[in-house]
Amino acid sequence: MDQDSRIAVRPITAAATWPLRQSVLRPGRPIAVAQFSGDDLPSTKHFGAFQSDELVGIASLFLAEMPEHPGASAVQLRGMATAPVVRGAGFGRALVAACVAFAVASGKPLIWCNARKPAVEFYRKLGWEILGEEFDVPDVGPHFHMWRRVK
Ligand SMILES: CC(C)(COP(=O)(O)OP(=O)(O)OC[C@H]1O[C@@H](n2cnc3c(N)ncnc32)[C@H](O)[C@@H]1OP(=O)(O)O)[C@@H](O)C(=O)NCCC(=O)NCCS
Repeated sequence: MDQDSRIAVRPITAAATWPLRQSVLRPGRPIAVAQFSGDDLPSTKHFGAFQSDELVGIASLFLAEMPEHPGASAVQLRGMATAPVVRGAGFGRALVAACVAFAVASGKPLIWCNARKPAVEFYRKLGWEILGEEFDVPDVGPHFHMWRRVK
């Protein structure tokens, strides 16, 4: 069995993302911090990556213009995280692929994110590019805007 056949990505609820968001992206902080404004909007989409039915990765897509491309139809990838035990096994790649496929299917030509500096090479490997200068997110650290044109 090849590695990808063990990775299942499917839509999940906002609430299902919160425990991994909290433990990976907001460690030591209250669960409320893992709840994003707009999580429950009909235009927001959440994906989970599963290994043997265990949720090991999450990614969410929000309808949001890219600051550098005002007026262009776009989706923002947020809350991208995989469990430490599965890192490097393709779950992050599979989640981003599902998000890109969703952007294409919903007619959004741009996908972008606020990439944490340590994750920049991950996105670069998947064909994303940096746009603009490094910026700081309080309590989280340095970030870059990264994006991909999907069609
Ligand atoms: C960034 C993150 C989502 C990557 O998830 P993952 O499950 O390890 O990703 P994958 O295994 O699918 O990696 C795909 C490729 O990127 C590489 N890669 C993954 N993370 C990387 C990183 N931080 N730096 C450089 N390369 C990285 C992998 O080695 C793999 O390369 P390969 O195709 O040559 O084998 C995960 O490390 C994570 O949750 N980090 C903490 C939270 C975080 O920073 N989230 C992003 C916020 S913007």
